[in-house]
Amino acid sequence: MGKEIDITIDGKVAGRVVGCDRIADIAPFVAQEPEVFVVYDENASWIASEVIAAVPGVRGSIAIDATEEEKSMETVLLITRSLLEAGASRKALVLAVGGGITTDLAGFAASIYKRGVRYANVPTTLLAQVDAAIGGKTGVNFDDYKNMLGVIVQPLYTFVCADALRTLPRRDFLSGAAELLKTFIIENEEDHYGRAVRWLSSGGSDAELQELVLAAAAVKAGVVSRDPFEAGERRKLNLGHTFAHAIEHEARQQEDDITHGEAVSMGMILAARLSDALGVSKGLERQLTADFAAAGLPTQSPYPVETLAEAMDKDKKAEGSLVHFVLAECIGSVIIRDLTVAEALKLLRI
Ligand SMILES: NC(=O)c1ccc[n+]([C@@H]2O[C@H](COP(=O)([O-])OP(=O)(O)OC[C@H]3O[C@@H](n4cnc5c(N)ncnc54)[C@H](O)[C@@H]3O)[C@@H](O)[C@H]2O)c1
Repeated sequence: MGKEIDITIDGKVAGRVVGCDRIADIAPFVAQEPEVFVVYDENASWIASEVIAAVPGVRGSIAIDATEEEKSMETVLLITRSLLEAGASRKALVLAVGGGITTDLAGFAASIYKRGVRYANVPTTLLAQVDAAIGGKTGVNFDDYKNMLGVIVQPLYTFVCADALRTLPRRDFLSGAAELLKTFIIENEEDHYGRAVRWLSSGGSDAELQELVLAAAAVKAGVVSRDPFEAGERRKLNLGHTFAHAIEHEARQQEDDITHGEAVSMGMILAARLSDALGVSKGLERQLTADFAAAGLPTQSPYPVETLAEAMDKDKKAEGSLVHFVLAECIGSVIIRDLTVAEALKLLRI
């Protein structure tokens, strides 16, 4: 049995990340729960079956189609209706089994059902293990806006099980790898960044990967504990994301297929270019480009910076307003700099 990492808010433990080797290892943590309802991604149904077999208090299960189109209020209502029909009381624990789409949906549904019941996550993608399933941000897409409706409520547990990644397609694995590297660019104790680049480019053992995943989970847990509602430090986790959201927006317009992690990878390269141009860092774009390419991640945005700037301005809704850009001074140290999109564009063009 692996490591436990607490998320502490105002001096109280608000949630816990637990490292597990096998899915069945989660059972002791929830064995006393009288009413467990499993909300699971159909593509991770084998993991849900193992959870249901191992946890004695399971009273029902709800399958969802984990796509961005289905990440909607309609699906939240479907989950809450299923809970109601199954007779879930305020003592219920919702257990989300899936990637970030599933944990965002199930966490939100649990947080509004009967004014809020507890939930826990069994993330089944690398991205959810290092990022989405930790920190309590939940929500759904609304109209054309991603994650527009939601709440911040901490999960009771996030179980990081090495076994759960066994069937994850390579492209989804790499999408999570971008967030793994992002985390270590923010905080890089014991050169986790270098170790992650080496693992991704040359391979390594499952145990080494689990160690890196838990190290990244600990970084996120620490940031969330210090700033649960994104008043300041938590913004650092958005490294590369201002550009990534613009890339994802453009990809939707063009009907191009780009995953969130791919967009984050390309977004971090643009953030590094901006850092270099401002003199905040030196040679960072070159270093990240080499490392990310070796790790199998895309480094070059298919859209020109002018197009991305337009999308960012639209996102801000008012031209000329300031954007919080997360910039890296070096691997392991990031800062936030407020710039207008026009200022950023000028620097990126140099
Ligand atoms: N709440 C947060 O803090 C936060 C942070 C980052 C991202 N997110 C959200 O997370 C979502 C992306 O998460 P994701 O990348 O985990 O995507 P996802 O949930 O869409 O999963 C990716 C794909 O992998 C499949 N899958 C999941 N687990 C599998 C497994 N073990 N074996 C085989 N297939 C499996 C899914 O069905 C899906 O097709 C986005 O909606 C994003 O907005 C939330």
